[in-house]
Amino acid sequence: MIKIGINGFGRIGRALTRINLRHKKYEIVALNDIDEDIHNHAYLLKYDTTYGKLRDDKVDVEGDAIKVNGYLMKLFREREIKNVPWADMGVDIVIEASGVSQNVLQAREVTNGPVKKVIVTHAPKQGIDFSYMYGVNSEDYDKKRHHVVSSSICDANALAPFYTLIEKKFGVEMGEVTTLHPWLSYQNLLDGTLKSVSSPGHLWRDYALGRSSVGSLIPKETTLCDAMMKVLPESGEKLHASSFRTPTSIVSSIDGVLLLEQKTDLEDVKRALVEYTKTYPGVLKLDERSLISIDYLGNENAAVVDMRWLHLNKGRMLKFVLWYDNEWGYSNRVYEIIGHLT
Ligand SMILES: NC(=O)c1ccc[n+]([C@@H]2O[C@H](COP(=O)([O-])OP(=O)(O)OC[C@H]3O[C@@H](n4cnc5c(N)ncnc54)[C@H](O)[C@@H]3O)[C@@H](O)[C@H]2O)c1
Repeated sequence: MIKIGINGFGRIGRALTRINLRHKKYEIVALNDIDEDIHNHAYLLKYDTTYGKLRDDKVDVEGDAIKVNGYLMKLFREREIKNVPWADMGVDIVIEASGVSQNVLQAREVTNGPVKKVIVTHAPKQGIDFSYMYGVNSEDYDKKRHHVVSSSICDANALAPFYTLIEKKFGVEMGEVTTLHPWLSYQNLLDGTLKSVSSPGHLWRDYALGRSSVGSLIPKETTLCDAMMKVLPESGEKLHASSFRTPTSIVSSIDGVLLLEQKTDLEDVKRALVEYTKTYPGVLKLDERSLISIDYLGNENAAVVDMRWLHLNKGRMLKFVLWYDNEWGYSNRVYEIIGHLT
């Protein structure tokens, strides 16, 4: 069984742990986090405001380890990923989920020894061999050359499958998308300056994101197009994206339009979507129901296509709405990648 180490035991690190409790495909043997209180980590794994209490799993602390159902996950407290003795713990794959740039830059050192791969749970500018997305570019992954692998960001995981299928079937001339993303843990409850997570010690240069996260929609720039280019380079000159942080805790949405190169009709688009869901099960789900964001809490897909809003204007301008659980859906993508890398 593949042995996993998780660097950064926050929202994504804990979601991955919970997913593994459900599917039991891997053994998580080591955790690393700069927050030193192991009892607090165990508590946060057991009780989760978004996903509820772990009811059927027994979580304890035993010495330096969190014990879940008898299995031990040893907690380290290193600031730098390269200082964690992953290899001594028998780890095959490290998941870098701290979001700190320095850890990404050190990831190659981690893979120099017995640790085979590092998966980075965002889309950094540097330090990555390959951005892996099942159903989009997974055929280009080369086990021998790609060791530090990015699982990209949640928004790109949602958009890229939809985009690539539309591009392949009808061609995309250009597109505009808006992401609606719930607040993240580093935002402020009340107005203030905002500390960068990726570069500790630096303040966020977009002042608006430091404003109170609870009362307003906060417009912000997004790295979605950069992340899209890493998996679909040709999307770069065609797409433009903007974003809002929403005063909600979970479930994102993308509202967008793509101008198609080839005139078509809506039924063809729907057929192409159905075909895609059969070729790549689990990536996209098509939904006709009249639902709201919270109804997608705990959804495992990369994105759900809201078929009620799929609209084709004059045969060329395709309007679409996607929903995705930015933590659970995304962490399921990371979980899926683990099985494809070695
Ligand atoms: N939350 C989401 O919706 C989401 C979705 C996709 C990708 N991501 C990405 O995943 C990464 C983690 O996001 P998150 O939401 O889990 O954040 P989080 O703040 O909940 O968790 C980060 C964890 O890393 C720890 N940490 C900070 N510095 C560290 C260091 N130097 N070494 C070890 N641990 C350290 C923190 O103490 C915290 O427990 C980020 O890069 C984020 O962009 C998040």
